Amino acid sequence: MPEPLLEVRDLRIRFGRFTAVDGLSFALGPGEVLGVVGESGSGKSVSMLAVLGLIRTPGAHVSGNIVFRGRELLGLKDAEMRSVRGREIAMIFQDPMTALTPVYTVGWQIAEQIRAHEKVSARAARDRAVRLLDEVGIPSPERRVDAYPHEFSGGMRQRAVIAMALSCNPALLIADEPTTALDVTTQAQILDLMRRLRADHGSAIVMITHDMGVVSEIADEVLVMYGGRAVERGARRQVFHTPRHPYTWGLLDSVPRVRGPRARRLPAIPGAPGAAERGCPFADRCAHRFAPCDEAPPLTPTGDPGHLDACWLPEDRRRTR
Ligand SMILES: Nc1ncnc2c1ncn2[C@@H]1O[C@H](COP(=O)(O)OP(=O)(O)OP(=O)(O)O)[C@@H](O)[C@H]1O
Ligand SMILES: [Mg+2]
Repeated sequence: MPEPLLEVRDLRIRFGRFTAVDGLSFALGPGEVLGVVGESGSGKSVSMLAVLGLIRTPGAHVSGNIVFRGRELLGLKDAEMRSVRGREIAMIFQDPMTALTPVYTVGWQIAEQIRAHEKVSARAARDRAVRLLDEVGIPSPERRVDAYPHEFSGGMRQRAVIAMALSCNPALLIADEPTTALDVTTQAQILDLMRRLRADHGSAIVMITHDMGVVSEIADEVLVMYGGRAVERGARRQVFHTPRHPYTWGLLDSVPRVRGPRARRLPAIPGAPGAAERGCPFADRCAHRFAPCDEAPPLTPTGDPGHLDACWLPEDRRRTR
């Protein structure tokens, strides 16, 4: 296995007495796409904000290891972290409007981003902004470069945000729900764009989403989170063909089928999400709960190399799909 680009080990994030992430570990190789799934509140965003050193809430406590290109990021000084952020690791935030300032033109904002990391003239930065807008599929980029964010449609704004993230050719792009607010057609175009970027720039991508359909389209590796922990991890093929964890079964059951008759209603996983103090975080909602679940199951390798899950169920009670 080649040297991982990013390796997160035993990441723990607490806000006061609330544990948002409880011992998360994963690795990502150069050019790989990791899909991070799990429902609202499972700790997807805060984990990735921690990678970027962006957890700044007073009382927040982050521990573990975040090793990027062989270098420990956790505990880096602000100034050092700023040179990593944007240049080596870029993030597309969950809400594209927060990434764009309404009072400046889109092109100016992309150019500023470039100039924050590189010594180039304003003219050269603007030219690069035009090329980037073209690359992400904005029509008439020479004209659009001078438009304000409110003059863009939602899909175009998301493309502009992606252009900004790509402006420094990052080795790692973290995209937090980049398609959630978009209609299905635009969503498909953005996914296409991400695939192309990975092919053309060799960037690794962490794609956060609650949509298993998106994961199945783009991810090489899949990380399923629940209640601040990884409950399953593996190659896309493993997670989709031989899912191990009852929460993953539920996620897959709620993916609308593309072919064949559609279920009239999507089956919902009963109960509300929430982490138990002790024990398996999913236990309260799990149809397969039994006595051992009062202790938290560790993430454990399965028989299939690279595939791990955190569940006590014996083999004969695992579902076969
Ligand atoms: N700054 C903060 N202060 C206190 N609690 C926080 C803070 N940021 C996140 N949390 C809590 O941490 C947990 C994980 O939040 P996170 O934003 O990572 O969820 P998520 O998996 O990204 O959910 P979503 O799919 O809704 O975006 C939540 O319970 C959230 O309320
Ligand atoms: Mg989030």
